[in-house]
Amino acid sequence: MNPAPILRKPFLAVLAGNAASHPPVWLMRQAGRYLPEYKLLRAQSANFLDFCFRPELAIEATLQPIKRFGLDAAILFSDILTVPWALGQKVEFLEGEGPKLEALRSADDIGRLNLEGLTERLAPVYRTVKGVAQALPETTALIGFAGAPWTVVAYMIEGHGSRDFIVAKSFGLAQPELFERLLDIVVVATIEHLSAQIAAGAEAVQLFDSWAGVLGEAEFRRWVIEPTHAIATALRARHPAIALIGFPRGAGGMLAPYARETGVTAVGLDTQVPLGWALDVLPRELPVQGNLDPVALIVGGKALADGVESILSRAKGRPLIFNLGHGVPQTTPPEHVAELVRLVRGG
Ligand code: CP3
Repeated sequence: MNPAPILRKPFLAVLAGNAASHPPVWLMRQAGRYLPEYKLLRAQSANFLDFCFRPELAIEATLQPIKRFGLDAAILFSDILTVPWALGQKVEFLEGEGPKLEALRSADDIGRLNLEGLTERLAPVYRTVKGVAQALPETTALIGFAGAPWTVVAYMIEGHGSRDFIVAKSFGLAQPELFERLLDIVVVATIEHLSAQIAAGAEAVQLFDSWAGVLGEAEFRRWVIEPTHAIATALRARHPAIALIGFPRGAGGMLAPYARETGVTAVGLDTQVPLGWALDVLPRELPVQGNLDPVALIVGGKALADGVESILSRAKGRPLIFNLGHGVPQTTPPEHVAELVRLVRGG
């Protein structure tokens, strides 16, 4: 008989609180343009969202890094901006420019968003999850994901990427009620979207709060901690055993309150946070994920070996999932990822 997933899959065992002698490893943005096979696959679709919504392509994109590197977890190939699209906002990805959204500016704009039928519009994503779940090696776990509400709302209001999201932050400070109405819509959408991924076979889910770091303490509490707590609570009510990884990039000194008050199962650490400090302020039993500098992965060699060793030695005895502090950069030589996996596994 096949043992339970948690016994077969090192990634799930660590999320359950067990420390491993060699931590499981996966990388944020492990699929993407640094892989030549991704570029070939991507060429089959002119439009990035269309690519995300074609299960046969998205399944293959999800599996590519697993086939090449034998990572311990696959992450669904999709994007956080599928949720605003499914709510009815215009979302485009312009080549070399990143995402462009028709920015929300008024109560009318927000009033036009439509939660009804959201999971029907996102159904191709769940077909992808199902297809990947069937194709994965039996020791590899499958991670679903969504953007956390603040990060998603930041793109919805700003209309594009930004260093500081001043437009989105200003909106929230100037019109808190309207802003929180929008956050609430995205919280509900995120719960539905993650629940459907779990129902389709995702074994853990990650919330990417990529822009948590631009907020001050009060806004961090209202726009990051509270919505994340609402999502964690709702997901647990529907799927009691689900593991939720929160990645509040740039949270800094808010990391411990985030871990304590959101109810996430594990916390993703960005590159900037000193690992020793994070391990001191977080509970010993809380699984942590991270936090190698992606630039060490670009450089390879001694920089990579030293970076890996420093994390492994400091987190010894703690439940650690090895990862980067942010996504794999586009200029990463794929051989360096293979080397990273070898180093983490003690080879
Ligand atoms: O991790 C994975 O391998 C799974 C797939 C994944 C993508 N985006 C694919 C993608 C995941 C988990 C994301 C999350 C995502 N998307 C985040 C949170 C993580 C982070 O990086 O902070 C954010 C902020 C987005 C929004 C987004 N999508 C941006 C800013 C961009 C443009 C960046 C760029 O490199 O052009 C995207 C596009 C995108 N999402 C690409 C990929 C592989 C590149 C587009 C392409 O292949 O043409």
